[in-house]
Amino acid sequence: MIRICPSILNANFDNLPLEISRVASVADLLHLDVMDNVFVPNFTFAPERAKEIIDFSTIQTDVHLMIGDVDNTISPYLESAAASITIHLEASANPRSTLAKIRENGIRSGLAIKPGTPFEEITEMLDLVDMVLIMTVEPGFGGQSFMLEMMPKVERARRYLDQKGFSSTWLQVDGGISLETIGIARKAGADTFVAGSAVYKSEDPAEMVEKLREIASRA
Ligand code: DX5
Ligand code: ZN
Repeated sequence: MIRICPSILNANFDNLPLEISRVASVADLLHLDVMDNVFVPNFTFAPERAKEIIDFSTIQTDVHLMIGDVDNTISPYLESAAASITIHLEASANPRSTLAKIRENGIRSGLAIKPGTPFEEITEMLDLVDMVLIMTVEPGFGGQSFMLEMMPKVERARRYLDQKGFSSTWLQVDGGISLETIGIARKAGADTFVAGSAVYKSEDPAEMVEKLREIASRA
């Protein structure tokens, strides 16, 4: 099963309903990057705006929280209609408790790690995780180059999940996913792919989602 999640980070923020409609028929989930200018040096949405987008999106949303002190700042998102919420290990003092809260709200729980964080740091939490996100760029900005050196981490994660009884946990990659890199990430074991600039900088975003899916499926 391959899932493609377009990120609207590089879409036109002034007309998000239109931007979302351009991929609605083909996207599995809409990836919403929430940045607070604390955890990352960039700002996207305040919680109120993020909730509005989640509400008007016709695609179920995959919320990627790049916000500091996430254990204490997550509440507005828990009350939202998000399908999935991903927190960063590096932003959480008590990830087990926050992951459990996400699930208690009927939302899929995601746990993300930055390029410098080894996969082994999250193995103790996998019983509470529906999706592992391995960042393939430093979080903060769209349009960066895919970090090929993250592939051994993706391979290790895939092996571990399969061997330890977590084979239904989704394995997502985010950053620099394109027609050139999606096959590489798929071969390493990812099944869920965020694509921002590849989708929204193309002439036909929906066609790009389909092309990405096809390459991933064949890899
Ligand atoms: C980066 C974000 C990504 C971003 C990806 O911090 O988490 O979701 O939108 O954009 P591209 O696909 O352009 O690297
Ligand atoms: Zn993201």
